[in-house]
Amino acid sequence: MNARELKDKYISFFVSKGHVEIPSALLVPENDPTTLFISAGMHPLVPYLLGQPHPSGTRLVDVQKCVRTGDIDEVGNPTHHTFFEMLGNWSLGDYFKNEALNWSYEFITNHLNLDPARLSVTCFAGDNNSPKDTDSSQIWENIGLTKDKIKFLGKDDNWWGPAGITGPCGPDSEMFIDGIEIWNDVFMQFNKNSAGVYESLSKPNVDTGMGVERTTAFLQGLDDNYLSTIWQPIIKKIEEISNKKYFENQKPIRIIADHIRSAVFIIADGVEPANKERGYVLRRLIRRAIRQGKFIGLETNFCHQVAQAVLDNQNNYAGVYPELNENQEKIIQILNDEENRFRKSLNKGLNEINKLIERNHQVSGKEAFDLYQNFGFPIELIKEELNKNNLDLNEVEFEKFKSDHIKLSQTLSAGKFKSGLADHSEIITKYHTATHLLHASLRKILGEHVQQSGSNITADRLRFDFTHPDKLTDEQIIAVTNMVNDQINKKIDVTVQSMKFTDAQISGALAFFGNKYPEIVTVYQIGDFSTEVCTGPHVKNTRDLGKFSIQKQESAGGGKRRIYAILE
Ligand code: ALA
Repeated sequence: MNARELKDKYISFFVSKGHVEIPSALLVPENDPTTLFISAGMHPLVPYLLGQPHPSGTRLVDVQKCVRTGDIDEVGNPTHHTFFEMLGNWSLGDYFKNEALNWSYEFITNHLNLDPARLSVTCFAGDNNSPKDTDSSQIWENIGLTKDKIKFLGKDDNWWGPAGITGPCGPDSEMFIDGIEIWNDVFMQFNKNSAGVYESLSKPNVDTGMGVERTTAFLQGLDDNYLSTIWQPIIKKIEEISNKKYFENQKPIRIIADHIRSAVFIIADGVEPANKERGYVLRRLIRRAIRQGKFIGLETNFCHQVAQAVLDNQNNYAGVYPELNENQEKIIQILNDEENRFRKSLNKGLNEINKLIERNHQVSGKEAFDLYQNFGFPIELIKEELNKNNLDLNEVEFEKFKSDHIKLSQTLSAGKFKSGLADHSEIITKYHTATHLLHASLRKILGEHVQQSGSNITADRLRFDFTHPDKLTDEQIIAVTNMVNDQINKKIDVTVQSMKFTDAQISGALAFFGNKYPEIVTVYQIGDFSTEVCTGPHVKNTRDLGKFSIQKQESAGGGKRRIYAILE
C-alpha cells in the first residue's frame, strides 16, 4: 500500500463514521505567536479543543502537514523527519474512548489488514494527580487483546499535553505493531489550570495522530522509512546527481532528502530564508543539506534538482497540495538564491581558514567556532583543511564554545515558548480583533487592492503585512488610526456565524489569501464595517479594545508594507 492509498483509506474510513474531512492548515500558524510551525494535527484545532464550536461539526478528520524543529540534528536516522504528514481524527465533545479505540482497531485490522496478533497497546498507569486509565484497558480487553498485550505506563509515555502551560490534556493509548508505535489516541478529559490542577472537562475530546511516513514504510515491510515509495523518487534523484549509492551514504542522503523536502513545503507556505525564526529554520535546513552534499561530492548547485523530484512526485504531493504547483518557480528560485549565497560564504570561510593557517600555523577552537557560526562552515571541513596542512584542531575548545552557544539559544527559545501554545489570552484576542479593524480601515483608506499577506500577534503588539506599493503618508497613518479608534468608540458588537465558504465569498467576507478553507467556515463580523472568514477568537464588543495606535511602518519587500500597532 502506498501513502496515497493509506491517506485515502483513512479519510474514507472516518467519513464513513460520520467525520467531516477538513483541509490541512498552512505550516505557518495563524495568529499563534508562540510557535514557529504547525507540529501536530491538533495544533490548528486548539481553539476548538478549548470549546469553541467548529464550523464543520464535532467529528473531524484530516491529513495535516507538520514540521518539527526540536531535533533537526537527529535527522539522518531511518525514522526521523523534519516535515511529515499526520493523519488524525477528532471528537470535539462527541464520541469518546469506546468509539475511538474500537475504530482504531477496526481500521488497523480490517482496512490495513494487519494481523491482530501483532498488536500491543499501552495505557496510562495513573499518578497522584490523575487516575489510572482502566476505561481504555477494559475497552482493549473487550476488543479481544489479552492482558499481556496491554501495558500501563506513566505520564512520560502515556499522557499528552497541555500544549502550553495550561489547557486540555489527558491520558493516551498508543498502538504498536511488532513493537513499533503507529498510532496515538489522546483522551483530553482534563484541563490543567494555572494552579497546576487537573480539572475534569465537561466535554472531553479525542485527538489522534498517525504518522504517514512511518505507517507507509511499515505497510511496505520496511524498517527504514527512506526505502518506502514516499522517499524513493527523491533518493533516486540524489543518487543520480551525485553518482553515489544510498546504501553506502545513507546519512548524508537521508539528510538531503529530508531537508529539501521540508524546505519545499515551508517555502510553498510563504517562508523565505532569513536570520531569525521561521526563515532561520529554513536557512538552516537548506545549508545543512548543502553541507551534506559535500560529503557525496556535490560541489555545485543541486538543491533545485532534489526539490524538483519532490514537486514531481505526483502520487504523494504534486496532485494533492496545489500550493506546490502554484509556487514551483518561486521554490526553485529561492533555493537557488540561497545556495548561491551560501556557496559564496563557504568560499569566504575557506579563504579565512587558509589565511589563519598561513599566519598562525593553526586554527584555535574559538576561531573554528567563529567560522562555524559566521560562515556556517562545518567543523568536518575545517578539520579537513587543517589536515591538508598536517595540522589538528583543538576540538575540546571548539566544543566548549559551541555548547555555551547552544545553552544561550536554548535559554532564549525557552522564553519564546513560555507563554504556551494554547494561550489565547485576553490581550491576544484583543489584538486579533484590532487586526480585523486595521485590515478593513486600510482597504477603505488606501483602496481595495490592500490584501492581508501576513499577521503576527504578541502580547505587546500586532504586526500586519499587506499588499500596497508605497509608503503610507502621515495623513494616511492618521486617517487609518482614527478610523480604527472610531469603530472602537462606537462600541460595536462582534458577531459570528457559520456559512458555506462560497456564500462567505459572495457576501464579500475577506479571506486570507492563499489559504485553503473547509466547506463550512466561521465568519466574524464587526457591524457593517468588517467581515472576515476567521477561526477567532475575538472580543465581544469593540469597546474592549482600548486605544489603538500605529507605532511604525516599514517595507515588507515585494510590494508589501508592514505595520506595527499597539492597544493601550
Ligand atoms: N497530538 C497527538 C500527537 O501528536 C496525537 O501524537
